[in-house]
Amino acid sequence: MLAYQVKQTAGNLLSMNDLDNAEIDTLLNRAEEFKHGVRPHFSEPVYAVNLFFENSTRTHTSFEMAERKLGLTILPFDPSTSSVTKGETLHDTLLTLNAIGAQIAVIRHSQNHYYDALVSGGDLDLGIVNAGDGSGEHPSQSLLDLMTIREEFGAFAGLRVLICGDISHSRVARSNAEALGKLGATVLFAGPQEWFDGSLSALGEYGDWDELLPTADVVMMLRVQHERGVATENFDGAAYAAQYGLTVERAGKMKSGAIVMHPGPINRGVELASELVQAPCSRFVKQMQNGVYVRMAMLERICQERHFGGMQ
Ligand code: CP
Repeated sequence: MLAYQVKQTAGNLLSMNDLDNAEIDTLLNRAEEFKHGVRPHFSEPVYAVNLFFENSTRTHTSFEMAERKLGLTILPFDPSTSSVTKGETLHDTLLTLNAIGAQIAVIRHSQNHYYDALVSGGDLDLGIVNAGDGSGEHPSQSLLDLMTIREEFGAFAGLRVLICGDISHSRVARSNAEALGKLGATVLFAGPQEWFDGSLSALGEYGDWDELLPTADVVMMLRVQHERGVATENFDGAAYAAQYGLTVERAGKMKSGAIVMHPGPINRGVELASELVQAPCSRFVKQMQNGVYVRMAMLERICQERHFGGMQ
């Protein structure tokens, strides 16, 4: 049985800041065990519901797969056919689902920190997993990225991780920069300067893409987030690729043994050349595979902390 420290944020998983290095390690180790076929035993049923108010392919189906592999019972929820369309608030939606019996809610929402009011209200007896809040955090993506990096290099200390692209709108960049810095990696940022968020300066240095690229062990490419209005209607994908994309030519300048990562979805031919998506240096598919196992570990941690499913 795993032992987690009880903290203020116990029973939820909202931000990489909620996890110290030992807890990250425990989650990654458990994810590795799940990857090798270990399964936990729940002596009572656990009910989970996935609420995705923003579109998702990976995170939504990956959490659902993780829940199924753990043996959790999933309550169906589709915002577009729910009473959210009649004006019901997020809080009242969760109050309803909790009253019906939901114990874990996996939520993606466009509002940064949507979870603050839910957690501080004190009237919801359910574990909240943040599956992405606006341009805030994406802890499950960060954990699967960490798992993929650790599988490759064995450790984080001394690694140079270069994050390039639409940084200001990226919850992946923020979560990863927070976690990687704590774990001893050097985080570097590149991409259009106007898309760099100064608040991230404390987490890593912003520099020239072509100068930093040959120095990186991990090259993490970010999608241009058109849905957040980052690019104008005159956005020229080919021009962006030429200046900031990881083209085949640029990939040739990467350090030997360096890997390419992308959280997906990919704008092929814009931030990442199509030829590189499944190239030997790419870990794009592995990231998605690992996502299921880290999400299992996250869900199990919440069950453990809340004593769901008969866990002590
Ligand atoms: N990486 C990621 O969050 O992908 P989805 O938007 O498809 O979930």
